[in-house]
Amino acid sequence: MLHERVPNLAKFVEPDRVRREVYTDAAIFEMEMERIHERVWIYCGHETQVPKAGDYYTTQIGRQPMLMVRGKDGKVNVLYNRCPHRGSMMCGDRSGNAGEFFRCSYHSWTFHHDGKLRAIPMMESGYAGTRWTRDNPDCNMKRAARVENYRGFVFASLAADGPGLLEFLGRSKIAFDDICDRSPEGEVEVVPNCFRMIQHSNWKIFLENQLDALHPSVTHQSTGRAARDVELEIEKRTGKIPLSYHMLSAFSTVTIEKWDNFQTLNYPYGHCILTGYMGLRPKDPDTLEYERVLEKAYGEKRKEEILTTNIHHVLIYPGLSVQSPLQQLRAVRPLGVNRTLTEIWHFRLKGAPEPIYRRALAYYNLVNSPSTMINADDLENFWKAHQGLSSDGGDWVSFHRHYGRDAEKDGMVETAPNCGTSEAPMRNQMKAWTQYMAPGE
Ligand code: FES
Repeated sequence: MLHERVPNLAKFVEPDRVRREVYTDAAIFEMEMERIHERVWIYCGHETQVPKAGDYYTTQIGRQPMLMVRGKDGKVNVLYNRCPHRGSMMCGDRSGNAGEFFRCSYHSWTFHHDGKLRAIPMMESGYAGTRWTRDNPDCNMKRAARVENYRGFVFASLAADGPGLLEFLGRSKIAFDDICDRSPEGEVEVVPNCFRMIQHSNWKIFLENQLDALHPSVTHQSTGRAARDVELEIEKRTGKIPLSYHMLSAFSTVTIEKWDNFQTLNYPYGHCILTGYMGLRPKDPDTLEYERVLEKAYGEKRKEEILTTNIHHVLIYPGLSVQSPLQQLRAVRPLGVNRTLTEIWHFRLKGAPEPIYRRALAYYNLVNSPSTMINADDLENFWKAHQGLSSDGGDWVSFHRHYGRDAEKDGMVETAPNCGTSEAPMRNQMKAWTQYMAPGE
């Protein structure tokens, strides 16, 4: 049906440009939810969000309200947040503990943590002779077709077929290895609660921005300069520069030319990595103590490997952006063709000294939170991009920068080291989009 309303979808995307309707057409958005978000592996949450049996956390996959719940067997289940009786949402709040079982607040049907029906009031007398019997699977809360957990990060797919999680992640799984390996115990735990932000723009605009190395020294220049002025003032007074100011001032001191020296690695399924770690390995006592703890846990060689992993962002298409060296991620939940929710989470490295957590928290607050000027500048760009694309001022979005210079190797497009500002990641994301959106057999 939808495909009939959006004929010749292939004409919307060319290798170096995309038609604006891809960002603004409500029918295309519906098709994206059906063919991409409600089929591929989507990040639900971290297992430490539901530490005890009965703990649940509500989330969204595509257009579907879902919940992640820890069972008595310790397993994390992902269920549709819907009662099979008359369709009421089972959990109306963000999180909580279901106790021994879920109880629907409408007519008191109860369900085990794996979604199986537990009891219906007066079931024998009320349902005798009907098709609503205990062994009817429709009596259970529906489960996500597939759930997998990689190093504590829980993903679900609503499609029974398709690649497994590790095959889907491919080399982008380094996001989770890097974030966990930086912990002396090899594990992270979520810091409860996240920032939630609704952007008035299409979901793909946010994802494209994550590996857009051309914009930071332009869009964030004024914030970087203001931070640099304060930083210099503090240095004059105290002789020291606080690390947190550097997180902001770097936006003015790292020029476009320097960003261009970084590199992007573009993988199958639309995943991409931007290299160019911001140099957060100072020689202050806190960092040296952390390095000592890490060396004790892993040995000198492995410690060096861990601390020199060269990642700025890992984008896991179509719904996750991970900044592993600073233990944070942003999950993307599309709400409509021009509305996108992002959840911004950060993590503690288990066994690492407290100041290392405080550093991640500073970055979380200063760069990624809704209240920072960095985010405000990005949000304005996203809104302006969506407004411009909704106009008749032009039909195409250009991804031509460094087009024709992408070197493909083992299914991966690696930009040359001096082409960090290439639009190869956007081309790679749209290539995956086209493959996902192609009509099935
Ligand atoms: Fe849930 Fe009736 S809708 S018990």
